[in-house]
Amino acid sequence: MTKKKRIGILTSGGDCAGLNAVLRAAVHAGTLAGYEIVGIEDGTAGLLDDPARYQVLTPKMMDTTIMRLGGTILGTTNKGNPFNFPMPDGSFKDRSQEIIDGIKALELEAVIGIGGDGSLAILRQLAQQGGINLIGIPKTIDNDLGMTEISVGFETAVWTATEALDRLQPTAASHDRVMILEVMGRDAGHIALHSGIAGGADIILIPEVPYDMDIIAKKIISIREEQGRNFALVCVSEAVKTQSGELIEVEHAGGEKRYGGIGHYFAERIAKMTGFETRVTVLGHVQRGCSPIPADRLIASAFGVKAIDLVKAGKYDRMLAWSDREVIDVPIEKAIESYQQVATDGMLMKTARALGICFGDV
Ligand code: F6P
Repeated sequence: MTKKKRIGILTSGGDCAGLNAVLRAAVHAGTLAGYEIVGIEDGTAGLLDDPARYQVLTPKMMDTTIMRLGGTILGTTNKGNPFNFPMPDGSFKDRSQEIIDGIKALELEAVIGIGGDGSLAILRQLAQQGGINLIGIPKTIDNDLGMTEISVGFETAVWTATEALDRLQPTAASHDRVMILEVMGRDAGHIALHSGIAGGADIILIPEVPYDMDIIAKKIISIREEQGRNFALVCVSEAVKTQSGELIEVEHAGGEKRYGGIGHYFAERIAKMTGFETRVTVLGHVQRGCSPIPADRLIASAFGVKAIDLVKAGKYDRMLAWSDREVIDVPIEKAIESYQQVATDGMLMKTARALGICFGDV
């Protein structure tokens, strides 16, 4: 019996909803096309172990329940760049060749890497160095990858943040409060903009739009005095800076820093400047770890299937992208070099402004 050609697949970077749906789609489509699908564990970390950690993924393992499952059954990591890998003695080492050797040992025809901009940049560098046939699938709740309208995980994160605003509104109204919701998104305000509109926020603060605290306070006072409303909702993106330009971060145990805490900065100032009682919800990782909503299941399924099409066609160094209701493929290089922030003159910004939503600038 001739040996089946093998396709490796891995999830890399922060998890999000829809990763398992991508795996499921690739396994079903790949198996039907005659390939064996090898799931590499914990992103590139699984290839640093000898022997490499992996599992053969079969359609039997990939039933509907897998599609509904949050997280990634393969595991992932958002640290440990193999080109500058932190060693236990505190030094850094280039371990890229070990990963390339791991891929060669698994005799993979191609590798499908599901990742955000950082992961895809690393995977591409590995592919160039090791002559690996790579296909990228965009995933990130931040939706900040270039060349694609949407990445796996974004829609679910928006849904979660919108639901949070829906839940904050009645309690805000009951207690005459300003409720501030801090959402993720790294340096792009897509989650805040989308959920802010969908969840009826009065004020949306995103890193792309500079704000003035006086304008924010004026808006809240006008809600009370001119509209006669006793509450307000504010949706703020985690990378918004203080008015003096300082970035607010949290240092986690182990010394890693992440954005977080800007909501409290606004709460303190809004309370002082408006007299409104103010509370903050920092939404955090609940935006990532839940069951994907249907939109993400569909995007994930379409990407998984298309990745197999590209392997069949021998078309590599490409990232799949969502464009105008179609899945297309674009050069990975182009996608990672164009960080996608909110277009401040884009349709959704105009929609929000026309609805009277304040961005703190006018
Ligand atoms: O990039 C995805 C993301 O969830 C960002 O929105 C957030 O800033 C970051 O990852 C959080 O990282 P970690 O999971 O390491 O806390």
